[in-house]
Amino acid sequence: MRRWHLSLATTVVLALGAHATGAAPPPFPLDAGSARNLPVLARRGMVAAQERRAARIGRDILRQGGNAVDAAVAVGFALAVTLPQAGNIGGGGFMLVHLAKGNRNIAIDYREMAPVNTATTVFLDKNGNFDPKLSQQSVLGTGVPGTVAGLALAARDYGSGHFTLAQLIAPAIRLARDGFTVDDGLALSLRYGAARLRRYPSSAAIFLHPDGTPLVAGDHLVESDLAATLQAIADKGPEGFYRGATAQRLVDAIKAGGGHMSLADLAGYKAVLRQPVTGSYRGHTIISMPPPSSGGVHIVQILNILEGFDLAKYGPLSAETIHLMAEAMKLAYADRSKYLGDPDFFHVPVAGLTSPAYAAKLRATINPDHARPAADIAPGNPAPYESPQTTHFDVVDADGNAVSNTYTLNFFYGMGEVAPGTGVLLNNELDDFAAKPGVANAFGLVGGTANAPGPRKRPLSSMAPTMVFDPQGHLELVTGTPGGSRIITMIVEIISDIIDFHMNIQESVEAPRFHDQWLPDILFCERGISPDTLRLLTAMGHDVRIVPAFGSAESIEVRGSMLEGGVDPRQRGTWAAGY
Ligand code: DON
Repeated sequence: MRRWHLSLATTVVLALGAHATGAAPPPFPLDAGSARNLPVLARRGMVAAQERRAARIGRDILRQGGNAVDAAVAVGFALAVTLPQAGNIGGGGFMLVHLAKGNRNIAIDYREMAPVNTATTVFLDKNGNFDPKLSQQSVLGTGVPGTVAGLALAARDYGSGHFTLAQLIAPAIRLARDGFTVDDGLALSLRYGAARLRRYPSSAAIFLHPDGTPLVAGDHLVESDLAATLQAIADKGPEGFYRGATAQRLVDAIKAGGGHMSLADLAGYKAVLRQPVTGSYRGHTIISMPPPSSGGVHIVQILNILEGFDLAKYGPLSAETIHLMAEAMKLAYADRSKYLGDPDFFHVPVAGLTSPAYAAKLRATINPDHARPAADIAPGNPAPYESPQTTHFDVVDADGNAVSNTYTLNFFYGMGEVAPGTGVLLNNELDDFAAKPGVANAFGLVGGTANAPGPRKRPLSSMAPTMVFDPQGHLELVTGTPGGSRIITMIVEIISDIIDFHMNIQESVEAPRFHDQWLPDILFCERGISPDTLRLLTAMGHDVRIVPAFGSAESIEVRGSMLEGGVDPRQRGTWAAGY
């Protein structure tokens, strides 16, 4: 089956002569966007990202002797220029690193932090009601950015040592300074983002025409202020961002909008190392992001619950499989609402939530024939066991090192404002806090004390850069995706598609997705699931809703000596570049 895919891919690409680079045609696609159901193949190293130029920049770093971390840092800075809706230096995220030498896994938390002057009631109006405008459309929702600190830490501590930070930022600076041609993907996102960008002259000057219409495909986008900010980081390291002129301009923009971020908040930001969450699924080891992300905990928890069901027997996208997965998802999201938050402020019972024994208890509450209404589900009790935008990219290098990185501004273009003079889009990440117990954020997620706003707290995330190792301990999958609350369930489905249903990586990335997060009590399904199946699910008591496609789960599967890239066809411009 696998061989068939490989040889078909080879035949198709040679026949079309597509994506060939250099004189002799390569034996397989090294550098390609999505081809239906066929992974992109490479032998030595690969970068899979949501944008082609950035993917190629990372691939070139690998070719020049950089390791996966060097390449990831270069991609991270490049996406801030080429994928401004989500790539960023004004936001934050998480990087999971696998070092082949010593078989080490490292989780770098560079999530944004709330400024010191953040009250628990910051997003409530004078009547005590949550006002989403405050968290989503004002600088009160802007967290202290973590990306620059995170990428710099990664390069310094886990890079190959062959490249300086300045060398890894240089391609991004060139693109920002000299400009590049807007492609379909960027043009589409600018159309979506235009209304918010238009509110700020500093944003409009970069991304819109003088008449207020967004740049279109074929236009030339230059980001001079961003180039200067990146140059300051290249010259001075993170200090070039967190102190001095850039920091002052960021604070000025925040102050002008009525926010509270100070120079001290910026100077005090630190990326931190966390212990990755570990679990297993049918003998495969899962490594993912720990709190302040909920991603890893709930991926492992859902997989633990599913391990007790013979999904292979039911088949992919069958009503039985979707039903059992949806029921497991609901239980995890109920726990998320109570137990997950910033571990520096709230004790998160990671071991309890990810324990197979706890999963067995939860599994026993699932009715195989009928959906449990959300109202009948409440957060469980794991304690007794206790001892629209983001982007994801992956890198695997020739030595078997790997990086899985998800970072974000939260919404498309964050809150829409470029801090004047910096080229830096401000995030609205603090909307990920539970502004008030039980009141949903932009992703419909509810929470309570564990995720209440507060000084220097990191808001709870769902971002989950993830890796899977086969039963012999070899790296087999590097994956992740944007998609807010749906990130967790998308990754569970990709892992199950590969392990339970033996799909190749491109098939699993393309497979129609479904998602249930307990509240709202709805089973969200992409188009592509059979109407017969949807009828069966409805008869089982699920409130099935068809929703637009979601996610962008760029992934790399390692299969023997071959790297196979899966790029998500739901977004324009997704790319895997190998060599
Ligand atoms: O950290 C989180 O969970 C969210 N801020 C991620 C937002 C996101 O994925 C939006 N992309 N579609």
